[in-house]
Amino acid sequence: MAFPASFIDELVARNPIEDVVGQYVSLKRSGANMFGLCPFHGEKTASFSVSPDKGICYCFGCHKGGGVINFMMEIEGLSYPDAVRNLAKRAGMEVPEDEQYQSRYRAQERLWALMKEAGRFFNERLYAPEGAACRAYITKRGLTKNIVTQFGIGYAPDSWNALVDAMRKKGYTDQELRAADLVGEKNGRIYDRFRNRLMFPIIDVRGNVVGFGGRVLVQSEPKYLNSNETLIFNKRKNLFGLNFAKKTKQPNIILVEGNIDVVTLHQFGFDNAVASLGTSLTEDQVTLLSRYTEEVILTYDGDEAGQRAAKRAIPMLEKAGIKVRVLQVKDAKDPDEFLQKLGADRFKLLLEESANRVEYQLNAIRSKYDLRVDDQKILYVQESAELIASLDSSVKREVYGGRVAEAAGITPEAMKLEVEKARKHRQAREKKKQEQIDLAPVRAMQPKERSIRYDNVKSALAEETVIAQSLREPAMLDTCRMLTGSQFSVPLFGRVFDQLQARHGNGLEVSLAVLEDLSPEEVSHIAGICQKQNGPVNQKAFSDCVKLILSEQQRRNITTDDELMALRNKLKESKGANI
Ligand code: CTP
Ligand code: MN
Repeated sequence: MAFPASFIDELVARNPIEDVVGQYVSLKRSGANMFGLCPFHGEKTASFSVSPDKGICYCFGCHKGGGVINFMMEIEGLSYPDAVRNLAKRAGMEVPEDEQYQSRYRAQERLWALMKEAGRFFNERLYAPEGAACRAYITKRGLTKNIVTQFGIGYAPDSWNALVDAMRKKGYTDQELRAADLVGEKNGRIYDRFRNRLMFPIIDVRGNVVGFGGRVLVQSEPKYLNSNETLIFNKRKNLFGLNFAKKTKQPNIILVEGNIDVVTLHQFGFDNAVASLGTSLTEDQVTLLSRYTEEVILTYDGDEAGQRAAKRAIPMLEKAGIKVRVLQVKDAKDPDEFLQKLGADRFKLLLEESANRVEYQLNAIRSKYDLRVDDQKILYVQESAELIASLDSSVKREVYGGRVAEAAGITPEAMKLEVEKARKHRQAREKKKQEQIDLAPVRAMQPKERSIRYDNVKSALAEETVIAQSLREPAMLDTCRMLTGSQFSVPLFGRVFDQLQARHGNGLEVSLAVLEDLSPEEVSHIAGICQKQNGPVNQKAFSDCVKLILSEQQRRNITTDDELMALRNKLKESKGANI
């Protein structure tokens, strides 16, 4: 839904970006800008900039950025309307909502409240007499009271109506209990869906209880009963434990299979563990992860299914720009069993080993070949050499080269030659690539964001200046009334320019924060441009850019005219007749 423009203007004005960002990032002033550690990617030197006067933030490292609303969306994982609501709350403003949205939002809020109450109910039942067996089970699994409290773990009593009665008493309707998927229904009567189970609340990144996973206490089927999709829950878009893991100081996230693994890991101090809610990793979960970390440590169970899951997950994560490490649990079936049996220090060793992606990849290569067959042995050596050649440390090349040599039954010297050969090839390839880049400045000038292309770099750079300076000094928009968005070579800039011109013409706030219909990538790109343009706005430079945009556009038109003419002539020739 769209909020009124004037409302957004006020919202932005009453939420200074440095204050909002300052709640998440500690900022230090440096000149006109403020700098801090980027909350969107792990880093040790501050490359996240906030510009109070421009009203934008931008990371020079990961190229994320935008206005205060974009920041809120990104950092809290909120939709646009939710980010607006959040900021409105922060500034004590009433949100003008349209009817339909309001009712949906109210229904959501009711469900969040209901799920929270249900979670509280299950947790209380754990400590009631009827919870004795469940408490014993928890103790048997080695979970402490603290961690049970932190995760809000509870017990669903062995009853058909305990939860239903308790929630009705709190004023929730049967319809709401159905909508929350907390009940089953038979002959028009609802009954508790979760019975005699250990209950794990599933909490989203905003801290709302959105679902439950219920595990049986004694071996029976199904082992888990999970919430189905509701208005507030989609298991494909959530990760168990991410509400805690998102706050970790670790530069990575440990992805495991089971809820119990997550809880145990957190108990043993690994506060960066999450699990994928019983589904194999989904694209949405990958996107979610990429919002909070740059590196994922895959920790699937040691069995074949776990290994298959890892193989499938690696390319998905890598495609999203996430570095992947694979942790192989040895001497136990899963991280939970491992920790309970062998302790945190031993797990730390596994973590360190997992830093060694090379070993995993080498194993993967090896498993493809039968080393008793000479041809295959050669392929194994060659492919391994390719991989080893990519390592930048000579010690590592030597160590791993030695291992491969041993496995293949060749001398370390022969392997070394093979690696050197692969390195030379690599270097030649890279040199060629660099040359291509040098030879094609047009290509090198392309934005980092792949979805935005500059077909005419000269014009695009002028357009960048016009956009950035107009955002800086809206009065500049008065000086270029003859320019319209359709004359821009980059459609994105054209769209933005038209919005700016329209807003300025209507006396509305002109800033990055109030732009509409832009994807996060587009917003980041614009923020980057603004952040790169420093110094005062220069009238002469601005009008030169406007002129250039117009002349480049004319040139494009002429070209198309020329092309049309050529086409016409060609047709004429082929038909030998008049057109
Ligand atoms: N799961 C599920 N339905 C099942 C079995 C498993 O939804 N019938 C999901 C649960 O989210 C579970 C995860 O898959 O946490 C991993 O399964 P598993 O390793 O069997 O469960 P754990 O939680 O690790 O429990 P335990 O260690 O007690 O076996
Ligand atoms: Mn398990």
